[in-house]
Amino acid sequence: MTRGGRYAVTGGSNQAAVTSGLLAGVRDTALLRVEDLSVRFGTLRAVSGVSFEVSKGEFFGIVGESGSGKSITARSLINLLPSSAVASGSVLFREQDVLRASGKDLRSLRGRAIGFVFQDAVAALDPVYTIGAQLVEAYMASTPGVSVGVARRRANDLLAEVGISDPERCLASYPHQLSGGMKQRVVIAAALISDPELIIADEPTTALDVTIQRQVLELLQGVVANRGVSAIIITHDLGVVAEVCDRVAVFYGGMIIEEADTETLFSRPRHPYTSALLDSLPKLGTRKAFKAIPGAPPKISKDVGSCPFQPRCARAMPECSAAMPPDIWADAGRFRCHNPLP
Ligand SMILES: Nc1ncnc2c1ncn2[C@@H]1O[C@H](COP(=O)(O)OP(=O)(O)O)[C@@H](O)[C@H]1O
Ligand SMILES: [Mg+2]
Repeated sequence: MTRGGRYAVTGGSNQAAVTSGLLAGVRDTALLRVEDLSVRFGTLRAVSGVSFEVSKGEFFGIVGESGSGKSITARSLINLLPSSAVASGSVLFREQDVLRASGKDLRSLRGRAIGFVFQDAVAALDPVYTIGAQLVEAYMASTPGVSVGVARRRANDLLAEVGISDPERCLASYPHQLSGGMKQRVVIAAALISDPELIIADEPTTALDVTIQRQVLELLQGVVANRGVSAIIITHDLGVVAEVCDRVAVFYGGMIIEEADTETLFSRPRHPYTSALLDSLPKLGTRKAFKAIPGAPPKISKDVGSCPFQPRCARAMPECSAAMPPDIWADAGRFRCHNPLP
């Protein structure tokens, strides 16, 4: 594992010592195990019975339309939900239950073991502080006792790692002086600063043009490959998933309706929603207009009786309005559908 190797001088090994106590007791290769996660706002269910695992070194994708519960699921992974949310089930990070962790353990997870790029991270960069001041503060908060000089060197190294060609200049800049792509690189650098084992990036490419989008995806792919860390990318765009993910969970109406390795998901989708999503992707080299999915995504609702996709589904059968089937396991994944594609 290459994790931390580059940063021996700037405190990477120290970081390993800090997290090793918290993270003791590894049993297998699953770094993160989510079991039957549900999140409610009062009587409304934003997330219902979500389960998945992310292995060490794996690049995992969460894809779904706006409102399908992606961000709420992601925030549950670090137990950082709106105060009105009530979560149940479990989120095990290295066997530690994040949803029931103490304040101290949570701070360790959030600031150190898990690096999180929030959906609005770029907008949340503070306009009145330089990038350098913000990265130095983030590092000093994650690694108590470190000097400003060391923190600044680490910030410089990280900006170089995320592909910023003149890190010194970037450190001295204010957010408004940087392009959108550079700011996205800066917030990824900030998520990496504590040398995390898992990086979660919520829609990190949404606001970027296609060329910069590709560069940011390549950057994340490089981070996973070079550091041996795991990553979860959250996106509404299956094209993004195709570029970087090893495995994908498709969200609809707060549930995972299909999960498979990326190749299988694209070559043999089983759930009609996954198939419709694939049909809505623009196809390279054709002039065929992509097919939009008819109807609208479901509103957050009280019950989870019927399949949430049933009103929009061309393959719907009477039982689909009666009950959502449990996971049906297939060779390369699982899906929840009464009338799957062959
Ligand atoms: N603070 C909140 N209060 C009430 N409902 C919320 C809150 N945050 C999110 N939701 C609802 O939870 C559902 C899932 O939201 P979210 O996870 O942000 O979706 P996504 O990231 O997939 O677009 C949505 O219906 C949203 O309206
Ligand atoms: Mg979101």
